[in-house]
Amino acid sequence: PIDPNFEKNREAVDEEDGVTVWGPVDPPEKLGIHGTHVAVDFDICIGDGACLEDCPVDVFSWVDTPDHPESEVKVEPAREDQCIDCMLCVDVCPVDAIDVDPG
Ligand code: SF4
Ligand code: F3S
Repeated sequence: PIDPNFEKNREAVDEEDGVTVWGPVDPPEKLGIHGTHVAVDFDICIGDGACLEDCPVDVFSWVDTPDHPESEVKVEPAREDQCIDCMLCVDVCPVDAIDVDPG
């Protein structure tokens, strides 16, 4: 599962689509954790899509990740500022790739 303490254990190394990326990053195999309030571990995500389908406020957008070992698509939390902390995405992700920090 995603490390809930990633902000302490990792460094912010980049920004993509306005979303902070927490390293280490070494594409195409290692893509890091994307987002802060709504954080998706791209190296765990298998592109299931339940999070994107269930989010009531449309936080996520698909992005292509060709040649990543787990999946060729991931979800960018591009509108994480819209999140209402309902925790649906955290609950439905089959591989526990998402961390949401209320408050
Ligand atoms: Fe969307 Fe709820 Fe997940 Fe926030 S916690 S990103 S509102 S599904
Ligand atoms: Fe990925 Fe989990 Fe969503 S596998 S696409 S973060 S439901």
